Amino acid sequence: MSLDGYIDDTSNNRLLLSNTEDFDQVDELRATCDAILVGAETLRVDNPRLIIRSEERRAARIARGLPADIAKVTITKSGNISPNLRFFTTGDCSKIVYCPDSCCARVKAALSDLATVVCTGSHKVDLRRLLQDLEARGFRRLLIEGGSHVHTLFLEAGLVDELRLAIASFFVGNEHAPRFVQPGTFPHNAARRATLIDCSSVGDMAVLRYSFKER
Ligand SMILES: NC(=O)c1ccc[n+]([C@@H]2O[C@H](COP(=O)([O-])OP(=O)(O)OC[C@H]3O[C@@H](n4cnc5c(N)ncnc54)[C@H](OP(=O)(O)O)[C@@H]3O)[C@@H](O)[C@H]2O)c1
Repeated sequence: MSLDGYIDDTSNNRLLLSNTEDFDQVDELRATCDAILVGAETLRVDNPRLIIRSEERRAARIARGLPADIAKVTITKSGNISPNLRFFTTGDCSKIVYCPDSCCARVKAALSDLATVVCTGSHKVDLRRLLQDLEARGFRRLLIEGGSHVHTLFLEAGLVDELRLAIASFFVGNEHAPRFVQPGTFPHNAARRATLIDCSSVGDMAVLRYSFKER
């Protein structure tokens, strides 16, 4: 996020907050996870590939008997996800779309050739069941990479073990831009602090790691 807590601006182009070193650390982090989840709005706005960029890391995963990329996961309530997104068209990995029963048939008709579509919850995805389903598929370590709504959902539900917060050395300063999280009721507040487990400089960025596990 920016110094003032934003994760994008309001332009049509994706705002690059990370520097080269931070992008590399995130690539390393991705390579150690089983799956990566972003919200449907991030897919529509940024059209990210969500793949492992480093050829060495891809080769190391293959040598360990793993796919070169980690599984890609998204959630949608509306079901409005285009099959042409790079989420579906790139990556050597499974792709899983979670949606509620309300749009299940439509999402399956549109995407089931490209991804596993899992329907859970009546009008919104039940996050605990999503995590149980991922675990049942053998995915144990999930990296949640935005955007604001998705960060807020998982943090408010107390379903996050660890937060890696990278702070870029500039301001966005636009109240209409998306923030790291939206207003909400978070389990960690003034009466219940998270544990800072690491704090480092990554070029001109500060990277903080917090644990939300009970001590
Ligand atoms: N700097 C960074 O690290 C970073 C990373 C990622 C994203 N971003 C930025 O974040 C912004 C997007 O964030 P955002 O908050 O607008 O969107 P988001 O969190 O990416 O996605 C929100 C979408 O997730 C779906 N959703 C939310 N709750 C759900 C539930 N309970 N069940 C099922 N689906 C659910 C809905 O999709 P439907 O609308 O389809 O129903 C909702 O619109 C973009 O500007 C992007 O560039 C920044």
